[in-house]
Amino acid sequence: MNVKALKFSNIFLLILLILGLYFYLIKPSRLAVVVVDGKVVDFSGVEEFIVPFVNFTQLFYVAPKHKLISCGIRKSMTQLTMNIMCLLYNETQFYDDNQSLNDTWLTERKCLENDDFIYPTESLENDIETARFAFIRDPIQRFVSLYLNKCVREKSCYNCGDDMRCTVWKIYEGLKKIQDHWDGHSEIGFMEGHAAPLSWNCDFDKDLPKWQLLMMGADSNERKSSILHLANILKKQGVKQELVEKIQEDMIAGETGHSTHKSAERIEAERQVREDPFIRDLLHKIYFFDYVVFPFKRDHLDPKYQSNFWTLPK
Ligand SMILES: *[C@@H]1O[C@H](CO)[C@@H](O)[C@H](O)[C@H]1NC(C)=O
Ligand SMILES: *[C@@H]1O[C@H](CO)[C@@H](O)[C@H](O)[C@H]1NC(C)=O
Ligand SMILES: *[C@@H]1O[C@H](CO)[C@@H](O)[C@H](O)[C@H]1NC(C)=O
Ligand SMILES: *[C@@H]1O[C@H](CO)[C@@H](O)[C@H](O)[C@H]1NC(C)=O
Repeated sequence: MNVKALKFSNIFLLILLILGLYFYLIKPSRLAVVVVDGKVVDFSGVEEFIVPFVNFTQLFYVAPKHKLISCGIRKSMTQLTMNIMCLLYNETQFYDDNQSLNDTWLTERKCLENDDFIYPTESLENDIETARFAFIRDPIQRFVSLYLNKCVREKSCYNCGDDMRCTVWKIYEGLKKIQDHWDGHSEIGFMEGHAAPLSWNCDFDKDLPKWQLLMMGADSNERKSSILHLANILKKQGVKQELVEKIQEDMIAGETGHSTHKSAERIEAERQVREDPFIRDLLHKIYFFDYVVFPFKRDHLDPKYQSNFWTLPK
C-alpha cells in the first residue's frame, strides 16, 4: 500500500467518523421516543403525530358497593356506561326514576348528584378487589360518530359546518397545542374533549394495566364477546345473577336496534374517511397511537401503519 492510498483511507475513515458522530449526536433528539407498555419505543417517522398518554380527561363512574369503577370516554358508549353504573350504584333509585339503559343525555340522573358515584375514593382505588372496565371504540369509527353528531347534526363543530377536512385539521391543531402545553387541569375544550385520543382518558397514563377493556369495534362478534366479558366482570363483583342477565339482554337488544340502518350522511362520512388523503393523513396522525396502545384491528389503516414498523427493544 503506498502513502497516497494510506492517506486516502485515513480521510475515508475520518469522514465515516464524522458521519457517525453526526448521526449519534444529532439523531437522538429527532427520534420520536415514546413509552408504550412500560417500554421505551423508537417511533421514528411519526414525529408529527399526536402522542399517547396525556392525562387530559377522566370521567369516572363508581359503584362502591360492588367495588367497581368505570370510565366514560366521550363518543365511546359513555351513556351506556353511565346508565349501567347508575343502575349498579342504586338499583332502587334507578327504577324509581324510570331510568333505562338506553337513556340519553336528556335524562336527568340522580346518581350523578352523589360524590361517591363520580369520584372513586382512595381506599377503593387501592383495594385489590376493585375491578375497572371501560368501553373502547375503534378510533376512526369514533371520529365518524363525533363528526356526524357534532358537525352534521348539531352544527357545533368549530366554525367548520360539516366540512370534514376543516374539522379534522382543527382537531389536530387543538390536540397538538394541548400536548405541548398541558398542565393537567385547565379547562377542556368541547371538541378536544370529544376527540382526544382514547389514551388521554381515564388516567390510563397511570394505570392502564389495571383496566379491563371492552372492545366495541364494527365487528358484531367482537361486540357480543365484550358484552359477555362485562357480564363476567359483574358476576365476579357480586352483582346478582338476574341483574347481570338483565343488563346483558338490554345491551344485546340495543345492539340490534343500532346496527340496522346507515344514514346517507354516515355512508358519505365513511367514504371520506376511506378515500380523502388529507383526512386520512390527519386521522393517522391523531389516532395512530391509540391503535398501538389498544389491541384494535389495523386493517383499515394505511398499509405502513398496519405492520409493526417500529422496533420494540428486547
Ligand atoms: C337508593 O335509593 C333509594 C331511593 O332513592 C334510597 O331510599 C336509598 O337510601 C338508596 N340506597 C343507598 C344505598 O344509597
Ligand atoms: C315513573 O313512571 C310512573 C308510571 O308511568 C309514574 O307514575 C312516575 O311518576 C314516574 N316517576 C318519575 C320519577 O318520573
Ligand atoms: C397531569 O400532568 C401534568 C403535566 O405533566 C402534571 O403536572 C399533573 O400533576 C398531572 N396530573 C395528574 C392527576 O396526574
Ligand atoms: C330501550 O331498550 C329496550 C331494550 O333494552 C327496548 O325494548 C326499548 O324499546 C328501548 N326504548 C326506547 C325508548 O328506545
